[in-house]
Amino acid sequence: MKPPNTNSLNTGMTQRLEFTVEVALGAGRILRDGYDQQKTISLKGRRDLLTEFDLRSEEFIIQRIQERYPTDGILAEEGGEIGGEGGRWVIDPLDGTTNFAHGIPFFVVSIAYMEGTETLLGVILDPMRDECFRAARGNGVWLGHHHLHVSPTKSVENSVLATGFPHDIEHNPNNLTRYSLASMQARAVRRLGSAALHLAYVAAGRLDGYWEMDLFPWDWAAGILMVQEAGGRVSRVDNGDNIYQEPASLLASNNFIHQELQQIFRSGKR
Ligand code: IPD
Ligand code: CA
Ligand code: CA
Repeated sequence: MKPPNTNSLNTGMTQRLEFTVEVALGAGRILRDGYDQQKTISLKGRRDLLTEFDLRSEEFIIQRIQERYPTDGILAEEGGEIGGEGGRWVIDPLDGTTNFAHGIPFFVVSIAYMEGTETLLGVILDPMRDECFRAARGNGVWLGHHHLHVSPTKSVENSVLATGFPHDIEHNPNNLTRYSLASMQARAVRRLGSAALHLAYVAAGRLDGYWEMDLFPWDWAAGILMVQEAGGRVSRVDNGDNIYQEPASLLASNNFIHQELQQIFRSGKR
Protein backbone atom coordinates (compact mmCIF):
# COMPACT_ATOMS: atom_id res chain seq x y z
CA MET A 1 0.00 0.00 0.00
CA LYS A 2 1.93 3.01 -1.29
CA PRO A 3 1.15 6.57 -0.25
CA PRO A 4 0.39 8.61 -3.38
CA ASN A 5 3.09 11.29 -3.05
CA THR A 6 6.32 10.03 -1.67
CA ASN A 7 8.48 11.90 -4.17
CA SER A 8 10.78 13.42 -1.60
CA LEU A 9 11.12 10.19 0.39
CA ASN A 10 14.31 8.32 -0.40
CA THR A 11 14.06 4.68 -1.44
CA GLY A 12 15.19 3.38 1.95
CA MET A 13 12.51 5.37 3.75
CA THR A 14 9.81 4.43 1.23
CA GLN A 15 10.68 0.79 1.79
CA ARG A 16 10.59 1.27 5.55
CA LEU A 17 7.14 2.83 5.31
CA GLU A 18 5.85 -0.01 3.14
CA PHE A 19 7.38 -2.50 5.57
CA THR A 20 5.77 -0.73 8.56
CA VAL A 21 2.35 -0.83 6.90
CA GLU A 22 2.74 -4.53 6.12
CA VAL A 23 3.77 -5.32 9.71
CA ALA A 24 0.91 -3.25 11.17
CA LEU A 25 -1.55 -5.09 8.89
CA GLY A 26 -0.16 -8.44 10.12
CA ALA A 27 -0.48 -7.38 13.77
CA GLY A 28 -3.97 -6.05 13.02
CA ARG A 29 -4.99 -9.50 11.69
CA ILE A 30 -3.85 -11.04 14.99
CA LEU A 31 -6.05 -8.58 16.89
CA ARG A 32 -8.99 -8.92 14.51
CA ASP A 33 -8.96 -12.71 14.95
CA GLY A 34 -8.51 -12.39 18.71
CA TYR A 35 -11.41 -9.97 19.03
CA ASP A 36 -13.94 -12.75 18.40
CA GLN A 37 -12.25 -15.22 20.73
CA GLN A 38 -12.37 -15.84 24.45
CA LYS A 39 -9.54 -13.82 25.97
CA THR A 40 -7.42 -14.35 29.05
CA ILE A 41 -7.22 -11.04 30.87
CA SER A 42 -4.51 -10.32 33.40
CA LEU A 43 -3.91 -7.12 35.32
CA LYS A 44 -0.76 -4.99 35.15
CA GLY A 45 -2.41 -2.60 37.63
CA ARG A 46 -5.85 -2.07 39.19
CA ARG A 47 -7.27 -0.93 35.80
CA ASP A 48 -4.41 -1.74 33.44
CA LEU A 49 -5.40 -4.82 31.42
CA LEU A 50 -3.27 -7.22 29.41
CA THR A 51 -4.47 -9.97 27.07
CA GLU A 52 -2.52 -12.67 25.27
CA PHE A 53 -3.23 -10.73 22.05
CA ASP A 54 -1.23 -7.68 23.24
CA LEU A 55 1.69 -10.08 23.60
CA ARG A 56 1.11 -11.96 20.32
CA SER A 57 0.83 -8.73 18.38
CA GLU A 58 4.02 -7.36 19.96
CA GLU A 59 5.94 -10.60 19.40
CA PHE A 60 4.95 -10.59 15.73
CA ILE A 61 6.01 -6.95 15.22
CA ILE A 62 9.35 -7.37 16.99
CA GLN A 63 10.17 -10.56 15.14
CA ARG A 64 9.49 -8.92 11.78
CA ILE A 65 11.60 -5.84 12.64
CA GLN A 66 14.48 -7.97 13.87
CA GLU A 67 14.45 -10.05 10.69
CA ARG A 68 14.45 -7.01 8.41
CA TYR A 69 16.40 -4.39 10.39
CA PRO A 70 18.48 -6.42 12.88
CA THR A 71 20.62 -3.51 14.11
CA ASP A 72 17.72 -1.17 14.92
CA GLY A 73 16.63 -0.52 18.50
CA ILE A 74 13.08 -1.14 19.72
CA LEU A 75 10.92 0.31 22.49
CA ALA A 76 7.81 -1.81 22.92
CA GLU A 77 5.14 -1.39 25.57
CA GLU A 78 5.13 -4.91 26.94
CA GLY A 79 8.76 -5.93 26.44
CA GLY A 80 10.53 -2.64 27.06
CA GLU A 81 13.75 -1.53 25.42
CA ILE A 82 15.94 -3.53 23.06
CA GLY A 83 19.18 -1.68 22.32
CA GLY A 84 20.37 -1.09 18.77
CA GLU A 85 22.70 0.99 16.64
CA GLY A 86 20.46 2.32 13.92
CA GLY A 87 17.04 3.84 14.18
CA ARG A 88 14.52 3.03 16.88
CA TRP A 89 11.04 1.59 16.59
CA VAL A 90 8.40 2.59 19.13
CA ILE A 91 5.53 0.14 19.35
CA ASP A 92 2.14 -0.08 20.99
CA PRO A 93 0.96 -3.53 19.86
CA LEU A 94 -2.60 -2.87 21.03
CA ASP A 95 -3.64 0.62 22.05
CA GLY A 96 -7.08 0.38 23.61
CA THR A 97 -6.73 -2.93 25.46
CA THR A 98 -9.70 -2.21 27.73
CA ASN A 99 -11.94 -1.75 24.69
CA PHE A 100 -10.52 -4.89 23.04
CA ALA A 101 -11.00 -7.00 26.17
CA HIS A 102 -14.60 -5.84 26.57
CA GLY A 103 -15.60 -6.29 22.92
CA ILE A 104 -15.68 -2.57 22.08
CA PRO A 105 -14.28 -2.20 18.55
CA PHE A 106 -12.00 0.82 19.11
CA PHE A 107 -8.35 -0.17 19.30
CA VAL A 108 -5.29 0.14 17.08
CA VAL A 109 -1.74 -0.97 16.42
CA SER A 110 0.71 1.95 16.54
CA ILE A 111 4.24 1.78 15.13
CA ALA A 112 6.68 4.69 14.82
CA TYR A 113 10.17 4.78 13.41
CA MET A 114 12.60 7.33 14.88
CA GLU A 115 16.13 8.48 14.18
CA GLY A 116 17.61 10.43 17.08
CA THR A 117 14.78 12.40 18.63
CA GLU A 118 12.87 12.74 15.37
CA THR A 119 9.94 10.53 14.41
CA LEU A 120 10.27 9.90 10.69
CA LEU A 121 7.46 7.41 10.05
CA GLY A 122 4.23 6.54 11.77
CA VAL A 123 1.54 3.95 11.09
CA ILE A 124 -1.69 3.55 13.05
CA LEU A 125 -3.88 0.64 11.99
CA ASP A 126 -7.50 0.24 13.06
CA PRO A 127 -8.21 -3.40 12.20
CA MET A 128 -11.98 -3.23 12.81
CA ARG A 129 -12.52 -0.49 10.24
CA ASP A 130 -9.63 -1.45 7.97
CA GLU A 131 -8.20 2.03 8.32
CA CYS A 132 -4.46 2.38 8.01
CA PHE A 133 -3.22 5.90 8.77
CA ARG A 134 0.35 6.44 7.65
CA ALA A 135 2.70 9.39 7.84
CA ALA A 136 6.21 10.25 6.73
CA ARG A 137 7.98 13.36 8.00
CA GLY A 138 7.89 16.10 5.38
CA ASN A 139 5.59 14.03 3.16
CA GLY A 140 2.20 14.28 4.83
CA VAL A 141 -0.25 11.79 6.23
CA TRP A 142 -2.67 9.55 4.34
CA LEU A 143 -5.61 7.30 4.80
CA GLY A 144 -5.95 5.15 1.70
CA HIS A 145 -5.25 7.61 -1.13
CA HIS A 146 -6.55 10.61 0.79
CA HIS A 147 -4.03 13.14 1.97
CA LEU A 148 -5.27 14.13 5.42
CA HIS A 149 -5.67 17.63 6.85
CA VAL A 150 -6.78 18.79 10.26
CA SER A 151 -10.24 20.32 10.54
CA PRO A 152 -10.95 23.99 9.71
CA THR A 153 -12.98 24.54 12.93
CA LYS A 154 -12.15 27.94 14.41
CA SER A 155 -13.72 27.86 17.87
CA VAL A 156 -14.01 25.48 20.80
CA GLU A 157 -17.74 26.09 20.79
CA ASN A 158 -17.98 24.26 17.44
CA SER A 159 -15.39 21.61 18.29
CA VAL A 160 -15.58 17.92 19.00
CA LEU A 161 -12.74 17.06 21.35
CA ALA A 162 -11.44 13.92 23.03
CA THR A 163 -9.44 13.09 26.11
CA GLY A 164 -8.33 10.08 28.09
CA PHE A 165 -7.50 9.27 31.68
CA PRO A 166 -4.55 7.35 33.08
CA HIS A 167 -5.16 3.85 34.43
CA ASP A 168 -4.13 5.08 37.91
CA ILE A 169 -6.66 7.91 37.85
CA GLU A 170 -7.00 7.95 41.66
CA HIS A 171 -3.38 9.09 41.98
CA ASN A 172 -3.81 11.76 39.36
CA PRO A 173 -7.42 12.93 39.15
CA ASN A 174 -6.66 16.48 37.88
CA ASN A 175 -7.80 15.80 34.33
CA LEU A 176 -11.39 15.54 35.56
CA THR A 177 -11.39 19.33 36.02
CA ARG A 178 -10.22 19.87 32.44
CA TYR A 179 -12.79 17.37 31.23
CA SER A 180 -15.61 19.26 32.88
CA LEU A 181 -14.32 22.69 31.75
CA ALA A 182 -14.04 21.52 28.13
CA SER A 183 -17.42 19.79 28.26
CA MET A 184 -19.13 23.04 29.23
CA GLN A 185 -17.59 24.89 26.25
CA ALA A 186 -17.22 22.42 23.39
CA ARG A 187 -19.82 20.80 21.16
CA ALA A 188 -18.82 17.41 22.61
CA VAL A 189 -15.96 15.70 24.40
CA ARG A 190 -15.37 12.03 23.56
CA ARG A 191 -13.28 9.35 25.20
CA LEU A 192 -12.70 6.64 22.62
CA GLY A 193 -10.20 4.71 24.77
CA SER A 194 -7.18 4.78 22.47
CA ALA A 195 -4.67 7.63 22.57
CA ALA A 196 -3.22 6.74 19.16
CA LEU A 197 -6.67 6.61 17.56
CA HIS A 198 -7.47 10.05 19.01
CA LEU A 199 -4.31 11.46 17.44
CA ALA A 200 -5.05 9.85 14.06
CA TYR A 201 -8.56 11.32 14.23
CA VAL A 202 -7.20 14.82 14.91
CA ALA A 203 -4.97 14.39 11.84
CA ALA A 204 -7.98 13.24 9.82
CA GLY A 205 -10.08 16.25 10.91
CA ARG A 206 -12.60 13.98 12.67
CA LEU A 207 -11.67 15.46 16.03
CA ASP A 208 -10.71 19.13 16.40
CA GLY A 209 -8.54 18.51 19.44
CA TYR A 210 -7.37 15.93 21.97
CA TRP A 211 -5.49 16.16 25.22
CA GLU A 212 -4.21 13.68 27.78
CA MET A 213 -1.68 13.52 30.61
CA ASP A 214 0.63 10.69 31.68
CA LEU A 215 1.01 9.04 28.31
CA PHE A 216 3.95 6.89 27.25
CA PRO A 217 6.01 7.21 24.03
CA TRP A 218 4.30 4.17 22.46
CA ASP A 219 0.92 5.91 22.89
CA TRP A 220 1.91 9.06 21.03
CA ALA A 221 5.02 8.53 18.85
CA ALA A 222 3.22 7.75 15.57
CA GLY A 223 0.21 9.96 16.29
CA ILE A 224 2.14 13.17 16.99
CA LEU A 225 3.83 12.93 13.61
CA MET A 226 0.40 12.50 11.98
CA VAL A 227 -1.06 15.60 13.62
CA GLN A 228 2.00 17.67 12.65
CA GLU A 229 2.01 16.38 9.08
CA ALA A 230 -1.71 17.15 8.78
CA GLY A 231 -1.06 20.81 9.64
CA GLY A 232 -2.02 20.60 13.32
CA ARG A 233 -0.19 21.65 16.45
CA VAL A 234 1.05 19.56 19.37
CA SER A 235 2.20 21.10 22.66
CA ARG A 236 2.06 20.37 26.35
CA VAL A 237 -1.42 20.88 27.79
CA ASP A 238 -0.76 24.03 29.82
CA ASN A 239 2.04 25.60 27.87
CA GLY A 240 5.45 24.82 26.50
CA ASP A 241 6.37 22.93 23.40
CA ASN A 242 8.62 20.32 25.00
CA ILE A 243 6.27 17.46 24.39
CA TYR A 244 9.03 14.94 25.15
CA GLN A 245 9.49 16.12 28.75
CA GLU A 246 8.22 13.62 31.35
CA PRO A 247 5.59 13.27 32.66
CA ALA A 248 3.88 13.47 29.30
CA SER A 249 1.24 16.11 28.82
CA LEU A 250 -0.15 16.45 25.32
CA LEU A 251 -2.52 18.82 23.61
CA ALA A 252 -3.00 18.11 19.90
CA SER A 253 -5.32 20.23 17.83
CA ASN A 254 -6.07 21.69 14.43
CA ASN A 255 -4.02 24.72 15.61
CA PHE A 256 -6.98 27.16 15.28
CA ILE A 257 -8.51 26.22 18.66
CA HIS A 258 -5.22 25.56 20.49
CA GLN A 259 -4.91 28.78 22.48
CA GLU A 260 -8.59 29.02 23.26
CA LEU A 261 -8.51 25.53 24.71
CA GLN A 262 -5.44 26.33 26.79
CA GLN A 263 -7.23 29.42 28.14
CA ILE A 264 -10.26 27.33 29.06
CA PHE A 265 -8.02 24.93 30.98
CA ARG A 266 -6.23 27.83 32.71
CA SER A 267 -9.56 29.33 33.78
CA GLY A 268 -10.06 26.32 36.08
CA LYS A 269 -6.83 27.00 37.99
CA ARG A 270 -7.14 28.56 41.41
C1 IPD B 1 -4.20 3.36 26.95
C2 IPD B 1 -5.14 3.98 25.96
C3 IPD B 1 -6.09 4.94 26.64
C4 IPD B 1 -5.35 6.01 27.38
C5 IPD B 1 -4.39 5.39 28.36
C6 IPD B 1 -3.44 4.45 27.64
P1 IPD B 1 -3.35 0.87 26.41
O1 IPD B 1 -3.28 2.50 26.31
O2 IPD B 1 -4.43 4.70 24.97
O3 IPD B 1 -6.90 5.61 25.70
O4 IPD B 1 -6.30 6.80 28.05
O5 IPD B 1 -3.65 6.46 28.93
O6 IPD B 1 -2.56 3.87 28.55
O7 IPD B 1 -3.07 0.50 27.83
O8 IPD B 1 -4.69 0.44 25.94
O9 IPD B 1 -2.25 0.48 25.48
CA1 CA C 1 -1.00 -1.17 24.68
CA1 CA D 1 -1.31 2.56 24.86
